[in-house]
Amino acid sequence: MTRAFAPGKCILFGEHAVVYGQPAVAVSIESGVEVSISESNRWVLEGMPFESSRHPHISHILNSVFKYSGPPLEIEIKSGLYSAAGLGSSAALSNAMGAALQELVSPDENLDLVSLARIGHSAEANAQKGRASPTDTATSALGGCIVVSGNPIPGTKHIFESTLETPEGSRKWSISRVEIPKIEDVWLVLGFTGVGSPTGEMVEGVSELLKSNPLKMAEIEAIGEITSSGLSALSSGNMEEVGLAMNACQDRLRNIGVSSPELENLISATEGHSLGTKLTGAGGGGCMVSLTRNPQRVAECIEIAGGRPLISRFGSGGARIIVQEN
Ligand code: PMV
Repeated sequence: MTRAFAPGKCILFGEHAVVYGQPAVAVSIESGVEVSISESNRWVLEGMPFESSRHPHISHILNSVFKYSGPPLEIEIKSGLYSAAGLGSSAALSNAMGAALQELVSPDENLDLVSLARIGHSAEANAQKGRASPTDTATSALGGCIVVSGNPIPGTKHIFESTLETPEGSRKWSISRVEIPKIEDVWLVLGFTGVGSPTGEMVEGVSELLKSNPLKMAEIEAIGEITSSGLSALSSGNMEEVGLAMNACQDRLRNIGVSSPELENLISATEGHSLGTKLTGAGGGGCMVSLTRNPQRVAECIEIAGGRPLISRFGSGGARIIVQEN
């Protein structure tokens, strides 16, 4: 049997603006998805017969990426992420599946995280009609703090370029890493509103807004500038400044109409105990995130306000094979 884990992600800065060429910054979180695979005499997923058309990420990895032709497999998935919540659960599933399968078919090869990020991205793109940014899959595969942008960003370590043929033409992204000083006393607390986040609808809503009111492009540019200051604050480990940049980002996200009453409820419940707090991901529902030195208190505030909290250390690791203990 082989087992692999891939983490979820949290966008700290730049959601929506990244669609218009601005940079986005995401960090991996501690919770994620674990996939176990073993050879079997029939195809099984989670104890049920595996129907490949119902699981596009998994079947893409098996058939298109690995061209798997070995014995049937029994696949088990354990997820610690809320789904449709902006935490990158499908990217984590794709990456964990890719890593576990690679370990099964080539146990002597080391796991190459850039190749894994590309595999995960191709699975996401295949499942989303050719439209997927590499943010979730790259952050989940590589771990730590990742910047995705149209062009390389000075002060970051360039890792790889990613291209994708989309229905709107060819798109290209530059993926880099931000080295952040070791941060021991600051946590991320995610708060799930319980409402699914409809990414496609939210992206379309922003596009309609910009068409009807081109002056709103100033908000997108402002998010780009806030992202750059947030990035320098992160690189120098100035978490107070990071928090302020998160708050400033939330003001702009409100102005482009992607917040929601449920998100605002959790954001105001946690403000008093946070260095910064904002929605994370596409908005309209999904999760907010608080940067805090008091994670238990913030988690309590989220629960009291009706949300579901998830505490994570800041910038934890990426995808990995779980070694079996005999
Ligand atoms: O909800 P998520 O985690 O898929 O985040 C979407 C981020 C957007 O910027 C809104 C869309 C995108 O493709 O980058």
